[in-house]
Amino acid sequence: MKNIKAFAPATIANFNVGYDVLGLSLNNIGDEVELTFNDTNENKIIQIINGDNLPYEIDENCCSVVIRKIQEAQHDFRGVDIVLNKGFAAGSGLGSSSASSAAAAYGYNKLIGSPYSNKELVAFAAEGEKIACGSAHVDNVAPAILGGIILSKGNKPSDIIELPIIDNLYAVTLYPNISVNTSDSRNILKTDVPLADFSKQVSFMGTFVASLYEKDINLFSDSLQDIVIEPIRSLLIPKFKEMKTIALKNSALSFGISGSGPSVFAIAEGLENANKIELALNSIYDNVDISIQTYINALSKESGARILN
Ligand code: HSE
Repeated sequence: MKNIKAFAPATIANFNVGYDVLGLSLNNIGDEVELTFNDTNENKIIQIINGDNLPYEIDENCCSVVIRKIQEAQHDFRGVDIVLNKGFAAGSGLGSSSASSAAAAYGYNKLIGSPYSNKELVAFAAEGEKIACGSAHVDNVAPAILGGIILSKGNKPSDIIELPIIDNLYAVTLYPNISVNTSDSRNILKTDVPLADFSKQVSFMGTFVASLYEKDINLFSDSLQDIVIEPIRSLLIPKFKEMKTIALKNSALSFGISGSGPSVFAIAEGLENANKIELALNSIYDNVDISIQTYINALSKESGARILN
């Protein structure tokens, strides 16, 4: 095989209850990476489609950095030409660099005969995250590779847990086209958490995981709350409170910030409710001078990285 094209999805990191350790993949939004052996020992970024500000330097682009890490681990330095096609905005809070990193790791692994399992690829893809946003947490790249809801306490395969999914749930995401830098959005967070909040937030995480195994939609809805990060980060997102109120009024099971923002998400039971929530969220931005984009995705375990050709 000389050429391969891989896709990896956008993701909702944190998912309200798991700051830096939990993430959900969004099946139908994502990035494509095409790799072609170029008969040299050098990787080359040939084209970046829809990613005007992304670097072509191979030490700075997350795709080439991930591929290089795999080449070093394999002692196989056959170079590839890389074409990256971005399917959604960088800086959206929907795991933009992760989708590229995950697609590069997944595609390159397949191109060289799949020496690594999907869980093993997470650590390689995390190197792309490190280059793109300075921190190698895997709450975006793990679900971008594996699909579904992933709990990851580290980047070793044994740290990565694929959680069950309740049927007939949809994520409604809204991206307001404003810039929120991930490192700024991390730096504004408090580093101390009051003990009472810590205790409550731990109970939310525990009951959330239990709700998935029990397939208990009420417990799922009650537990998907963030009392630590959201009160601070939501200040950076115009109309956050109004969006949350209208989403919950329109039967959203939960509402929160996707990753470090500015995107937000609601979880709906059934497509009809998802459509209603999408309309309601759109109405909040009707008179705001910020363009938005909304997406609806079914929650599914079959939503991870995949080969397109
Ligand atoms: N867990 C990360 C954060 C996701 O909330 O900052 C963004 O990369």
